[in-house]
Amino acid sequence: MNLDLGNLPRTIWVEKSEGGPVVGFVDQRLLPDDLALVRTADWREVVDAVKTLAVRGAPAIGVAGAAAVMLAAFECAADESAANLVRQGDPEAGGGFGREGARADFDRRLEEAARVITGARPTAVNLSWGVRRAVEAAQEARSAGKTAAEAAEALYGLAGALIAEDEAVNRRIGAHGAMLLREIADKRDGRGDAPEASHGIDGSSRVAAPVRRQGLNILTHCNAGSLATAFYGTALGVVYAAAQEGLINRVYADETRPVNQGARLTAWELARAGVPVTLQCDDMAASLMAEGKVDAVIVGADRIAANGDTANKVGTLGLAIMARHFQIPFYVAAPRSTIDCITKTGDDISIEERDSSEVLAEPLFGVTVRNPAFDVTPYALVTAIITEDGIWKPLEL
Ligand code: MRU
Repeated sequence: MNLDLGNLPRTIWVEKSEGGPVVGFVDQRLLPDDLALVRTADWREVVDAVKTLAVRGAPAIGVAGAAAVMLAAFECAADESAANLVRQGDPEAGGGFGREGARADFDRRLEEAARVITGARPTAVNLSWGVRRAVEAAQEARSAGKTAAEAAEALYGLAGALIAEDEAVNRRIGAHGAMLLREIADKRDGRGDAPEASHGIDGSSRVAAPVRRQGLNILTHCNAGSLATAFYGTALGVVYAAAQEGLINRVYADETRPVNQGARLTAWELARAGVPVTLQCDDMAASLMAEGKVDAVIVGADRIAANGDTANKVGTLGLAIMARHFQIPFYVAAPRSTIDCITKTGDDISIEERDSSEVLAEPLFGVTVRNPAFDVTPYALVTAIITEDGIWKPLEL
């Protein structure tokens, strides 16, 4: 396998253009046909991108949230400095507004933008996490006596740092997950690659031929890949790290109805990275498992409740139930920012209901449509949660 991650685009980034800071992203609605890179200086367009799934995947929308707050801060700072110019030229204008008034106005407008940004999608906790990180950084800068423009600059630095941090976190998740896959492969292949010396009763010694790795078959659902993060991915980050060690034979990607993140994004991304990938319809997972072709299921997560229950793309719960039936390990790979200790159990996770047109393009008389974007897998069905800090396993009672 020729793994080539250099062939994958960065999903989201920030940069300075002549007109000021912009947020850049891959418009995932157009994949796999077009790899279109969009740049915008308007935070409302970032909100729209998140709502319409141009930018999607929990970690990616987390950094998008922080980046959108950054653009809103620059907008407020520009308005504030324009108002100051008017005030300087006309002593009547904005009388009594003062420095404190300007600060309160900045805080209020940023809070309002943050509320709109957070509301773009409800289930992935990373979005509110990213927005909160940015709002807190702005408040800290203002409390330290910084101007609105300086606070906005601080947020630009934060957005860049969160993007870099996301990739670093994913690489650590990948390394932890590869360890688990190595254990599975070792068990199946009979202890790894090291040639073992054996001694005959005549005292002769022989070196056994190295055991050849067959490579594992992984099943995944939706896209928890590089495209769902700033770069590298969570579930697919584990695949990439394991592939680097020669542990992967093939990834089976569920197409993931109704938006087809598996067919459009995961299959595209893996093929581009050089990982052998087979696409299947969602309803083919059970027979694939029954044929003994799945060594492990690995998925991402949008929110993990305090008790370990995990919300992820709708269809994940079914896979977990099937994996338990066939005694196949079922792993969730996610950053710590996806763990929401305030939400006690999966029952408390708000599940996004998306437009019926995603399921049925044209309404059919007498037919209603349900379209929950996520479902919740009870922790009891999860073999392990793989994070950047280590691996969590349910207690065996
Ligand atoms: O609706 P989407 O495409 O944003 O759903 C994405 C998923 O469910 C992913 O599996 C999840 O966000 C984890 S991404 C690392």
